[in-house]
Order: sequence, then structure tokens, then C-alpha cells
Amino acid sequence: MYCKSSLCKTMQRRKRLGLISAFGLMLFLWKTSPYTCTGHLTLHCRVRDTVASLWRAEGEGPRKPCNCEVCISQQNVSSWFDERYNSTIEPLLTAENQDIPVQVQHWWLKLQGSNNGSYLPDILSKMFKVIPPVSHSWARGNAARCQTCAVVGNSGNLKGSKHGQRIDSHNFVLRMNGAKTAGFEEDVGSRTTHHFMYPESAVNLQPGIHLVLIPFKLLDLKWMTSALSTGDLRFTYMKVKSFIQADKDKVLIFNPSFFKYIHDKWTSHHGKYPSTGILALFFAIHVCDKVSVFGYGADSFGSWHHYWEKNRFASAFRKTGVHNADFELALIKRLAQEGKVTFYT
Ligand code: C5P
Repeated sequence: MYCKSSLCKTMQRRKRLGLISAFGLMLFLWKTSPYTCTGHLTLHCRVRDTVASLWRAEGEGPRKPCNCEVCISQQNVSSWFDERYNSTIEPLLTAENQDIPVQVQHWWLKLQGSNNGSYLPDILSKMFKVIPPVSHSWARGNAARCQTCAVVGNSGNLKGSKHGQRIDSHNFVLRMNGAKTAGFEEDVGSRTTHHFMYPESAVNLQPGIHLVLIPFKLLDLKWMTSALSTGDLRFTYMKVKSFIQADKDKVLIFNPSFFKYIHDKWTSHHGKYPSTGILALFFAIHVCDKVSVFGYGADSFGSWHHYWEKNRFASAFRKTGVHNADFELALIKRLAQEGKVTFYT
């Protein structure tokens, strides 16, 4: 409409300004809302990211994948890291990705001498009837959020460290095997959100904690089903818990493909296979935005000692070559040097 009077022109200007402000506000909310985008793979998020990249000023560089000062998955921080890091291999095994590639099966079945892989589909289908077939989403890839994780190994170097409060201040606290907190809170904290274990290292969990099973053999998957249902399986290569106290709905299964990827790309075939601690650490590196590492490092005799007990002769792995403790420690130090994790010693 053509305006002659100054009143009419002012009204038109206000209307235009109002429309521009409303559009700007909508765009701002869309770009920053932590609730609208739960994963970087959903169509909605891809559309949002594409629009956001068009909106970005020229020369501003790629958009940060999270809202931390530095995000682990951010590229061009470390070329050493970028060469090895693969975000497409899923850390968890679910009913949807349970068809484990043949070359992964071949490697994984040999780790602890599982003999007949033809039972695998049947074992998995039974297991996913007892535990949730699709695990929870970690919602990484949200540009508005900074998801922090503390990975707590079992090293005796935690004793007297007073890291407890710092560990508990993370969004997620990952522990493993026989880890204890009661009586050690000042040094190791009291919260646990995820507990990594295998049948021979299994402990009962409080409600609400995610049990993350690391399967080293076929029998471990069978054990998970049995320990949460019938309690039939009592023996692997040693006596194991026939029942486990854990929230069935929160059980997660470590993906053998992801396991092999860590062995190939990160520990580079040092040791027969990576330790629980390294597997848990790389799990965190692939699902969290920021990772702090506590409780890794042998004692002065080279033993993997624990903060809650005197196990002076825990150096068996060094002798057998199952894990390469020295290479693994050097790897954590390198990750810290490259600015990818914070390593507390
Ligand atoms: O001894 P355990 O296997 O339960 O410890 C869990 C993990 O913590 C190990 O797999 C290892 O990666 C790490 N650890 C360590 N130094 C120790 C004890 C454990 O690095 N002294």
C-alpha cells in the first residue's frame, strides 16, 4: 500500500520492524534451544544445522558441536586425534545394529575362545527380550549443551587425592569393575551414573545406575540374560554371580565393533585387547562433550593396584600381555597433551 501521510509511513515502518524482530527472535530460539534437537542425526537437526551454517558469517569457521569451551569431537584441534577418531561406529549394541560384521565377529570370538558364533543371533535376540532393545540417547551433538563426564579408573593413586567433589560435579560419572565409593567419597566421589563390568567382575548396583556390559565372549551375553532372569548361568571360566542387582531398563551393551575399532585405531594392537579402563574412556570420548580422567596409573612396582585394597601383586596383565598397561597410560597422556581430555593424577 502506498502511503502519503507521515502517520501511515510510521505505521508501516513499525510493522516491518515488528516482523523482522519476531523473525529474529524465532531464529534465535531455534538455534539455541536445548530441547528441540536431541541428536545430530535427526532430520530436524540436520535442517537446523544447514540453516545455521548459511546464517553464519563468512570466515567464522565450522560451528562448534557443543557448548563447552572446547568440544571433544571438534575437528582441527589435533590432527593426530582426527586421523583416528571415527564418530560413525556406534558405542552401544542395540537390537537395531545387532548384525555384527563378520570380520568383527571373527576377531571378537577369538578374544576369550568363544567357539561357535552361529549361536550369536539367538543369544542376542533372547538378551534383547530381557533388556531394552534400544538404549537411551546421550544427546551429544547439541550445540546448546556441554555434557561433561568423569571416567574413574580403579588406580590406588586416587587414595588421598581429594578428587571426590570434582568427580561428582560432572554430568555423568563412569566407574568400572569392583569400584567402591562408600568410605572413599572424599577421594573418589559418591555418584555413579554408569558402571562398566563383565561377568567375572560384576557387582550389584543401586537403582538408577546404567550397567554397561563389556562382552569379551559369547558367554558374557548369555550371562547378562541369565543374571537378570533365571540365574541358570553360574560359571564361565570361574564362578560368577548367578543373579545381579541392576535396573533391567538401564542395561547397556558395549558394541564389539566399537571394541575392535579401539583396538585397531587407538591401542594399535598393543596388548591382546584393550583394558576395561581404556574401553570405558573411549566410550566417554565418543558420547560426552568434555571428559575428565581419574584413577589411571600403576604403582611403583608396575602393578595395577586399587584404591580400596592392598593388591600388591596385581601385575598379571603386564606379564601375560593381555593388556599393555604402559602403552595405555601413554595414550591417555597423549590425549591430554592434544587437548582432548583432562587427566588428573
Ligand atoms: O583393576 P581393574 O581392571 O578393575 O581397573 C579398572 C581399570 O582401571 C583398568 O582396566 C585400568 O585401565 C585402570 N587402572 C589403572 N591403574 C591401576 C588400576 C587400574 O590404570 N593401578
